[in-house]
Amino acid sequence: MKVVDTELLVIGGGVAGAYAALTARTFGADVVLACKTPLTGGSTRWAQGGIAAPAGPGDEAAHGEDTLRAGRGLCEPETVARFVAEARAHVETLRDLGVAFSPIHTLEGGHSCPRIRHTGDATGHAISEALARALEATQGAGLRLLEGAFASNLRLHAGQVVGADLITPQGPVHVRAGAVLLATGGFGQLFPVTTAPPEGTGDGLALAYRAGAALRDLEFVQFHPTAVVIGGKAHLVTEAARGEGGVLRNAHGERFMTRYDPQLELAPRDTVARAIAAEISRTGRVDLDLRHLGEAFVHARFPTVSQTLAGLGLNMGRDLIAVQPAVHYTMGGVQTDTYGRTTIPGLYAAGEVASSGLHGANRLASNSLSEGLVFGARAAREALAVGSLPLHDGEAVPAPGADTAGLPALRARVAGAAGLLRSGAGLRAVLDAQPLPASPTLSRAALEAANLELLAGLLIRAALSREESRGGHARQDFPCEAPQAVHTVQTYEGTVATL
Ligand code: SIN
Repeated sequence: MKVVDTELLVIGGGVAGAYAALTARTFGADVVLACKTPLTGGSTRWAQGGIAAPAGPGDEAAHGEDTLRAGRGLCEPETVARFVAEARAHVETLRDLGVAFSPIHTLEGGHSCPRIRHTGDATGHAISEALARALEATQGAGLRLLEGAFASNLRLHAGQVVGADLITPQGPVHVRAGAVLLATGGFGQLFPVTTAPPEGTGDGLALAYRAGAALRDLEFVQFHPTAVVIGGKAHLVTEAARGEGGVLRNAHGERFMTRYDPQLELAPRDTVARAIAAEISRTGRVDLDLRHLGEAFVHARFPTVSQTLAGLGLNMGRDLIAVQPAVHYTMGGVQTDTYGRTTIPGLYAAGEVASSGLHGANRLASNSLSEGLVFGARAAREALAVGSLPLHDGEAVPAPGADTAGLPALRARVAGAAGLLRSGAGLRAVLDAQPLPASPTLSRAALEAANLELLAGLLIRAALSREESRGGHARQDFPCEAPQAVHTVQTYEGTVATL
């Protein structure tokens, strides 16, 4: 097997991984960035509405408070404080890298003022392209990019992560690394209807868990309130559409959010998503209504969504747009501190793969891209400061493969039990289901299937143990919020601890 040595192995090429790699290069470190897709893959590219950061120095406290309020008591205050203190500077770095943010900030759900930077409705695309350009310009000078490289397992030496094995188009590669930073995104692909990209199969969480790291709060799944779902495929309609004045109406034409929350359509996502689901079940449908904003404005402000909807036979400025919640973001992840450190030495995590403590039980809109910047940079700095020489071969942590044929049934079971409204009986029934048959080959698809199956079990166990309703976790049998907010933590020992 080919062996590659590096100071820092970054796995994942979205905003957190790409920015971490660029940050590490500013310290002169040798970096390998491996991603299973081309460099511009991952969910960063799909983000529409924008990237949140305090509107100015005077807005840090308010942005922090909005984040804490949306997180329903489970954000880590120190993480939120670091985030609001550092996010603006990193967003300015993106501008320096060529992202042409509009001078006018926009508003999204849960924010008390307009502080979302955007480039129209394809902000993630612009960020992803700028980061890819910067990485490609740096490639060779201490940075090696391995595209199409899937991390099958981590390697451990004396309880420390010392590298990973990759399946690449050129054959297997063993990377020996001073530190490994996971930036592999979330696990939205565990659900059949999701705005997450196909590569969102929770690989980083599975790698970390099998190596012994703690995973936290996996039960919190964020549904984006407004997706257009046709033929089982979810098309995101950015929250910024409501930020610009779009309203939600039920089948009777009623602007029902007046009955649910004083912030109306701009309440935090958990509230709006559940209100929409309730109104669909009560009246038959919910529409996003942008007609009063003027057709020309709507098409100019949301060209990407307009085009997607036109392809589905809908005119975003003239038609009522039937919407429904769809799985969008997984709040839980590999437990980290404010330096991106996981619970095992040598292993760091940033972005959606991590449970950094920023989002708590419900992420505030557009905080995810800026989280990737802040904690990707912090993790890269910390990993290099700690260092780990000499390099070791380590022992490969075994990873199973699973037959992909059973994935649609697994997804349907998870969606039925762990959707917007859950119950103990429904969750327990999933635990009794037959496991996916093992796959004789350890291909990327078989490993992804095993990763999803592992996460299904972990999510269901976490959801069963949380006997309350909070943020992205609602139980019919426990409809109230418990007086005390606690995290669920799972490690290889197999129990769910609450801390
Ligand atoms: C959106 O544009 O509504 C998605 C942004 C996010 O998930 O924060």
